[in-house]
Amino acid sequence: MVDVDSQSDQIESNGMSRRRLMGGAASLGAFAAFAPLSSADRASATAGPAAMPAQHQQSDDGRGRGRRDSSLGFRAVAPRVDDRLTVPEGYLAEVLIPWGDPIQPDGPAFEFDASNTAAEQAQQFGTGHDGMTFFPMGKRRGLLVVNHEAIDSAVGLFPTAADYTKRATVRKAQNAHGVSVCELELRRGSWTLVRSANARRITANTPMELTGPAAGHPLLRTAADQTGTRVLGTVNNCANGETPWGTYLTCEENFNRYFGSKQIFTPTPLMTRYGVGSGDNPWWLADDRFDLAVNPNEPNRFGWVVEIDPNDPRSTPTKRTALGRLKHENASFAEADDGRAVVYTGDDERFQFLYKYVSTRPWRRVARGRSPLDQGTLYVARFDSDGTGVWLPLVPGTVPGYRSLAEILIDTRGAAAAVGATPMDRPEWVATHPCEPGVAYGTFTNNTSRTTADAANPRTNNTFGHILRWQNDEGDHGATTFIWSAFALAGAGLGSGDGSTIAPGDAFGSPDGLAFDEDGRLWIQTDGSQPIACNNQMLAADPATGDLRRFLVGPAGCEITGWTMTRDQETLFVNVQHPGETASDPTNPASQSNWPDYRGRPRSATVAIRRADGGKVGT
Ligand code: FEO
Ligand code: CA
Ligand code: CA
Ligand code: CA
Repeated sequence: MVDVDSQSDQIESNGMSRRRLMGGAASLGAFAAFAPLSSADRASATAGPAAMPAQHQQSDDGRGRGRRDSSLGFRAVAPRVDDRLTVPEGYLAEVLIPWGDPIQPDGPAFEFDASNTAAEQAQQFGTGHDGMTFFPMGKRRGLLVVNHEAIDSAVGLFPTAADYTKRATVRKAQNAHGVSVCELELRRGSWTLVRSANARRITANTPMELTGPAAGHPLLRTAADQTGTRVLGTVNNCANGETPWGTYLTCEENFNRYFGSKQIFTPTPLMTRYGVGSGDNPWWLADDRFDLAVNPNEPNRFGWVVEIDPNDPRSTPTKRTALGRLKHENASFAEADDGRAVVYTGDDERFQFLYKYVSTRPWRRVARGRSPLDQGTLYVARFDSDGTGVWLPLVPGTVPGYRSLAEILIDTRGAAAAVGATPMDRPEWVATHPCEPGVAYGTFTNNTSRTTADAANPRTNNTFGHILRWQNDEGDHGATTFIWSAFALAGAGLGSGDGSTIAPGDAFGSPDGLAFDEDGRLWIQTDGSQPIACNNQMLAADPATGDLRRFLVGPAGCEITGWTMTRDQETLFVNVQHPGETASDPTNPASQSNWPDYRGRPRSATVAIRRADGGKVGT
């Protein structure tokens, strides 16, 4: 590993921590220094890093002392294209819970020829590991809750090419989706899976409830469930969130991929709006629930945020309709100044929107047995070109063409478009800052279909994506207005634009996973096109100084996603999703990647990263 100079001149320095002290109007003034790039800035930015304004090269701590030390203390990892996972010198990465390992230590073992049955898969970790949260139980033990977004590729889950006309094939695929809860213990510096009363698998067939304003609506009723409240399963569990009342939020993203029909079938406009019609996982061939001609309302029962209590293995997971129906990426919790629950969530598709839910009552005052996520207002973001923005409420009376809140929540995309929200370049994760009041950052991963730029989506043919940040007015996550700026335009050097310049060592593209640690380091994970020869990666940034360093490079054909830390910050858990994604020959699933076992079949897996000397990760 080589030491790569940080490109500290290429992230805008961030004065937001001072802003609260400076108060309302002054704070807007301070933010204006970091307002969205003007068209002139944009033109110069695309000329290369040297053209970035000088103010970006130095951070002032507000007391005239000039540049602070970076909070990043590791030596950056060089770009790599091999089939290994690489972390900085002095760090150890251990593979935990790969797809197919049992969730209890004495459960059914993984068979490397992928011959495990559907029933065995239901007792094993699913695949396509994505968002996750570690729930500590004391200092050396905890529950790890992990999403399983999608099967790794067309090959790999089965010994030979998948035959979806067989019920057993569809069942195994369904059981490889969903969520896993397992218990880990730190023993002599290594995390070990231990037997647990809380361990459970939640799959595409687990009984769940639908609650909130849309529950029971006719569009949510099916032949099997006339109540419109009792649903089966969760799919395409992308990223996640956690609440201060101890629950886990799993987000249903590309749920449309599992629906189609054996009959000639014309999708409704609502289906078309969500891409429901002919998915690439033909579950309908052996399971009528996913046949649109038989169960046209079944897709309406997906696309929600699902709340799970990891501490009660008998609890029923609950789809919270108040947070809207969309292709949810993550669900990032924050608390408004008056104690109301706030959840940010993005809809990951080209030209879709960024949302924020705010509960009606402070979450601590919601009665036991009720969720603060069942009654509140869903807002959608409009980013204005002057660096301000508005959270537009999606409520009856303000959304043309929609009569009830239930209709708005079931067709959230249509409602958001109707109120004039800003269509974005694929909203992915939102991360709220741990100490800067009312501040959040969001990734917009890419959008190669954009032909008209706007302030918040400043590049046409946006190959490498960008990261925005916003501060809600008065530093209050509950406010309905905000100020915003671009934090990074990814590409060959942050801010350098179109990738035409010489790539700096820490260049990245397609930002997706995004998380702040407790000290305010920002962790950026990538999924997709990179401006340099490098597998998908994770970087860490210090927004206060503009330092940025590559921390990890994943194995071939993977995506890096999922981020959670132990409370002492000595272990960082990260997921490697779909290594070898582009493999296409069912008889040779390891043609692109053989990670992590190098035994003929790649597997998604969680990785635990620690410092050899036991210190805080990232420092
Ligand atoms: Fe599941 Fe948008 O990533
Ligand atoms: Ca993602
Ligand atoms: Ca992505
Ligand atoms: Ca993914």
